Amino acid sequence: MGQAPTGWPAPRARGLPLHWPIVTEPIQLAAPTTPDSSASDPTWWRQAVVYQIYPRSFADGTGDGIGDIAGILARIDHLSALGVDAVWLSPFYPSALADGGYDVDDYRDVDPRIGTLDEFDQMVTALHAVGIRLIVDLVPNHTSNRHAWFREALAAPKGSPERDRYIFRDGVGPNGDQPPSDWVAMFGGSTWEPVGDGQFYFHLFAPEQPDLNWDNPEVHEDFLRTLRFWSDRGVDGFRVDVAHGLAKDLSEPLAPWAEVQAITADGASPIWDRDEVHEIYREWRPVLDSYTPPRTAVAEAWVETHRRPPYASPEELGQAFNFDLLGSDFDAQQFRLIITENLALAATSGSSSTWVLSNHDVVRHRTRYGLPRKGEPGDLLPDGLESQTGRGWLLAGAPETSIDRARGLRRATAATLLLLALPGSAYLYQGEELGLDEVTDIPDDRRQDPTFFRNAGVDVGRDGCRVPLPWVPDGPSYGFGSGPAHLPQPAWFGSLSVANQEVDPSSTLHLYRTALAARRELQAAESLEWIESGSPLVLAFRRPNGWTSVTNFGTDPVDLPFGEVVLSSQPLVDGQLPGEATVWLRA
Ligand code: GLC
Repeated sequence: MGQAPTGWPAPRARGLPLHWPIVTEPIQLAAPTTPDSSASDPTWWRQAVVYQIYPRSFADGTGDGIGDIAGILARIDHLSALGVDAVWLSPFYPSALADGGYDVDDYRDVDPRIGTLDEFDQMVTALHAVGIRLIVDLVPNHTSNRHAWFREALAAPKGSPERDRYIFRDGVGPNGDQPPSDWVAMFGGSTWEPVGDGQFYFHLFAPEQPDLNWDNPEVHEDFLRTLRFWSDRGVDGFRVDVAHGLAKDLSEPLAPWAEVQAITADGASPIWDRDEVHEIYREWRPVLDSYTPPRTAVAEAWVETHRRPPYASPEELGQAFNFDLLGSDFDAQQFRLIITENLALAATSGSSSTWVLSNHDVVRHRTRYGLPRKGEPGDLLPDGLESQTGRGWLLAGAPETSIDRARGLRRATAATLLLLALPGSAYLYQGEELGLDEVTDIPDDRRQDPTFFRNAGVDVGRDGCRVPLPWVPDGPSYGFGSGPAHLPQPAWFGSLSVANQEVDPSSTLHLYRTALAARRELQAAESLEWIESGSPLVLAFRRPNGWTSVTNFGTDPVDLPFGEVVLSSQPLVDGQLPGEATVWLRA
C-alpha cells in the first residue's frame, strides 16, 4: 500500500496531524557495514538478529519433560523460517540446575539430559547448513559446587592450591564460626558458606555457585582452553555471563555491606566492574581472533552505561548487552534518549549496539507493557521504573487484574518493530515471536528459580518467562514433548502455539517473520537519522535504503510521511497509523 505521492494526507477527524519534514543530524556510527551473509564475514554479528534458546524449555525431543538438542534439531525449520542470523544457547552443560544451568559442572561437556557432544556437533552443522550461527553461554564467574575443582577444593586442606582456585577465607568471631563479612548474595542470604573446617567460600549468587578466583593463573588457562574447545567445534561466539563480576578485591579488612553498597566511584566496588576485569578479556581476544572468522563475544555486564564501552571494544569482547530498554516505559522520549545514548556509546567502542526487550531473567515484555505505568490506576509500586520492569508486579503476587494483555501485545509488537529497525544487533528471546506472556500461576512446589527459594514468600523469581514453548494447540505439553513439561504450562498456551499462528497470517509469528525478512533486505550501513514528527508521542527515524520506521506511542491515530508501507504492527486505518503501533515505510 503506497501513500499519496504529493502533499501530506489531510488530517483525519480523530487523527493527530503531524508535520514531518525536519530531519535531524545523522548519527553515523563508527564502522558502517553492509550485511554479508558469507560464512567468513568477520562482521556478521554487527547487525545480526540473535535468538536466545533456553534449551531446557525450547523443545523436548526425548520425552523426559526437559528440552534438549534433539528438540532443537527437530525445530531448526522454525528458526530458519523465522529468519534469525544466530542462536544464543543458554547453558547446556552438565548441571544440577540449582540456577537453571548457570551452575556448571563441566564447561566442556553436554548435560546428558540435553544430549551428547556428538549431537552438539550435529546441531552446529544443521544450524550452519541453514545459515544460522551459534553463540554459546560461558559462565566464568562461578562453577557449580559439583565441578571437579570444587570437589577437590573441599577435599583439600586450608591453604592448598585446590582451594586457591576459589575464594576461601577463615571464619571470624570468638569461635571462628561467623562468616568473614556481612555481605548479601544476589539470590539472598550470605555470600559466605561454611565448609565445616573453619573456612568459608564466597559466592555472589547461590551457594551452589562458588566464585572462581581470577587471581589464579590456572583459572585463566582453563577458560582459554574452554574457548578453544567450543571454537574448534565450530561455535561462532560466546555470551559471557556476569562479565563484570570476575575481578574482585577481597583483601582484608572487608568493608561492611552497607559501605560496599554505597560505593559509587568508577571501578571502586570490591566485587563489580573492577578495572582489572578488562585484562581477562584482553587475554581472550587473541584466542577469539585466531579463528576464521574471529569468534565473537558479548558481555552480560550490568554496569553503568558509560562503563560499557571497554567490554565491547574490539580488544576485548567486541560487544556488550545494552539492557536500558528493559527498564524503560513504553514512552517515546525514554526510547529516544536510550537509543541516542547507546548509538553514541557504541560508536566510542567501535562496536555496534545491542537491543534487548526480553530474556530469561526478566518479565516478558508483552506483560511489562500491559502493566500500568507509575501514576496510572493500579500502579503497584511508588517507583515507576520498578513497575515497568515488572518486578514490582511480581513481588505483589502478579495480580491478573492489573494487566491489560491486549495493550501489552500492541505495545510489545510496536516496540519490537522499532527495535528491529535500529542499527546494531537485536537479541530476541524464545517465545516472544509468539507474543507469549509471563506465566504467573506456577504452583510453589513446581518452581525452580533460586530467587524464589532464597526469598521465600517475597519474590516468585524468573520461572514465569522460562515455561516451555507451545508448539501445537493441545497435548500433554502443547507439543513441547511427548509428555508433560518440566514447568507447568497454562491452558492459554495452546492458543498461542506455533501451529495455530502458522495458519493465521495476522499472527505475531507472521509479523516477526515478515519483519526479519524485510530487515534482511533493507539493512545497510549502521546509521540513523531522526525525523522530527512534530509530536512528542511519535518517534520516527530513517535508515539508509529509504527505510523509515515510525512508532506511535500515543493512543490516537497519526498521519504518516510518504512512503510505501513495508509492514505495520497494527493495520493502518485510512492511511493512518493507529495508537501503540509501528510502521516501516520505504521511500
Ligand atoms: C546471569 C544469568 C542468570 C544467572 C546469573 C548467575 O545473570 O543471566 O540467569 O542466574 O547470571 O549465573
